[in-house]
Amino acid sequence: MSKKIAVLPGDGIGIEIVAQAVKVLDCLNQDFDLNVEMEYGLVGGSAYDETGSPLPEATLKLAKESDAVLLGAVGGYKWESLDIAVRPEKGLLGLRSELELFANLRPAILYPQLAHASTLKEDVVSGLDIMIVRELTGGIYFGQPRGIRTLGNDEKQGFNTLIYKESEIERIAHVAFETAMKREKRLCSVDKANVLECTELWREVMIRVGKEYPEVELSHMYVDNAAMQLVRAPKQFDVMVTTNMFGDILSDCAAMLTGSIGMLPSASMDKNQKGMYEPIHGSAPDIAGQDMANPLATILSVAMMLRYSLGSEDLAVKVEQAVETVLNQNLRTADIYTDGDNKVGTEAMGDAVVAALKV
Ligand code: NAD
Ligand code: IPM
Ligand code: MN
Repeated sequence: MSKKIAVLPGDGIGIEIVAQAVKVLDCLNQDFDLNVEMEYGLVGGSAYDETGSPLPEATLKLAKESDAVLLGAVGGYKWESLDIAVRPEKGLLGLRSELELFANLRPAILYPQLAHASTLKEDVVSGLDIMIVRELTGGIYFGQPRGIRTLGNDEKQGFNTLIYKESEIERIAHVAFETAMKREKRLCSVDKANVLECTELWREVMIRVGKEYPEVELSHMYVDNAAMQLVRAPKQFDVMVTTNMFGDILSDCAAMLTGSIGMLPSASMDKNQKGMYEPIHGSAPDIAGQDMANPLATILSVAMMLRYSLGSEDLAVKVEQAVETVLNQNLRTADIYTDGDNKVGTEAMGDAVVAALKV
């Protein structure tokens, strides 16, 4: 029976990069034994323009009834001044929370071909392979109360709430420990337990769950130090687990270790291996519509989808190998280009990956 994928390109470069990922899926359908059906939906600013909502009912229904979701990116200058309740980003956050995608896996892997493309020294990043496990449906992103209120003296006050229940910390802890068990069995939990009670509890629960995984070496680090260590000596990390907001920030930082944010894919999983797959970067309005965006993070997100939601490890590896092949061919979009490389646009990069798959 064929599986169904909801394809949600979103805004800005989302449209261009998802088109390349769809080419890859089309090729796997035609030339390999993949059997997926794709149905498109609106999300983000483009959905707001058409329906008045960044997450229309029809899109949510499509996402819920699909086996997996492929998402590009949302947001852009045009929608920045909208009320926060209908901003494009709310569409993405709504999908994450409605589908209960609490576990966000963000692998930062340096392809050896790109060692010199990173802004960091080659010996600092070569061989880098980190998995960031980010809690995705809780914390300050969703905590209540939140808002902007007017005080007695007419001064405005903005407020958000960092809040985690033990059960929310426990379930992400299990994902992180299980992930570490399949890797080097080292887990670093990142918090701000020296200042924030909520993450004091985070640390306590991590230690408690850790007793069920005696083989995993658990360490703890404050988030400010973790940001510094990621650029100082990133290879000390195997798996990192952290809260929603810290994970957002640290994963952009880790992306640059791999040469470009255009290289970092992600999987957002529920408890039944259903997932939404998207690059970690945004809609890049500064380069949208110019055939400049790197589609590899999105194509690598397809590989994660094949592995985690479609049960096809073989095809996942095939896609990853095709990405290696194009890098070996010295093909580079502008973000990973250095002198002497062969500069290509978004479309040409997508076509090259498809050609590499067919070999
Ligand atoms: P961004 O990730 O869109 O862009 C940051 C920088 O990285 C820009 O200079 C951009 O050109 C570059 N970049 C990003 N992806 C690239 C790619 N694939 N190839 C080459 N260069 C790339 O972050 P931002 O500028 O802070 O945000 C822009 C918009 O995107 C905002 O509306 C933001 O809310 C949204 N956003 C959405 C997502 C998402 O949908 N998952 C993630 C992050 C930001
Ligand atoms: C990400 C993005 C989102 C986040 C925004 C667009 C809501 O930055 O996926 O990393 O903050 O989670
Ligand atoms: Mn982010």
